Amino acid sequence: MPAEIIDGKQIAREIREELKREVERLKAQGVTPGLGVVLVGDDPASQSYVSSKEKACEQLGMYSDDNRLPPETTQEELLELVDKMNIDPNIHGILVQLPLPGHIDEKIVINAISPDKDVDGFHPVTIGRMVIGDTCFLSCTPHGIWQLLIRSGVEMSGAHVVVVGRSNIVGKPIANMLYQKKEHANATVTICHTRTKDIAYHTRQADIVIAAAGRPDTITADMIKQGATIIDVGINRIDDPTRKRGYRLVGDVDFEGCSRKAGLITPVPGGVGPMTITMLLYNTIESAKATLQS
Ligand code: GUN
Repeated sequence: MPAEIIDGKQIAREIREELKREVERLKAQGVTPGLGVVLVGDDPASQSYVSSKEKACEQLGMYSDDNRLPPETTQEELLELVDKMNIDPNIHGILVQLPLPGHIDEKIVINAISPDKDVDGFHPVTIGRMVIGDTCFLSCTPHGIWQLLIRSGVEMSGAHVVVVGRSNIVGKPIANMLYQKKEHANATVTICHTRTKDIAYHTRQADIVIAAAGRPDTITADMIKQGATIIDVGINRIDDPTRKRGYRLVGDVDFEGCSRKAGLITPVPGGVGPMTITMLLYNTIESAKATLQS
């Protein structure tokens, strides 16, 4: 039997409907959730991501403070803007789009964002809170993966999860989230990476495989267990002269092969992708809610 598809678009739509109602409730109490967005430079992919984030805010009735800065913006100017946003009561979340131009130190900029407004979940204080299991903003892509698993009814307690990839923005945080002693977690987690001797040895034992290696066909059908849940985080461009734009997007998983053997699988596009912005909105709304409680 072919695998059931985890429809990220549909799940993202459901969460955004819930969030829209949350925004209405907050507005009725005098708080409009606000996201401060900063883009330095004119990278087309970053411009497109940032526009999607701003549009998503608008659709939910949130406020977005958009700052498009020229490529020659200095680190000092950027840090000044971050400081201003840190104390602006109308901004509950700050997003500095990465990558930044080479003359700006990303670490210094991320560290300058107040952990109380770190809706990207990249600040070392936020990461530390996540690792020890404290309440914090969970970074958006791994949080999106977690929600896909929860909302698809995948049992995580006692499951063996194999994460392929150890990046700071996906591999490390998703592994951390899933082994926590918490509801919808309690998994046994293995992390594989470029120096792992035999990745297939590990993935064949996995109840859940999370592929975040950034390489097509990292996971093929012979590497998975019958009925496993497969989450594909990859977004890779493959030349395709039959397409108008000359390429198509594929994930890290051989979808065709794996979907004949897996129990559940995410497609690319339309799996993890739509969840990332959704969880950014979620974090910003949580941050706005916290101002009412303080
Ligand atoms: N660039 C690509 N993805 C992201 C993201 O999730 N957050 C930020 N700040 N920059 C990115």
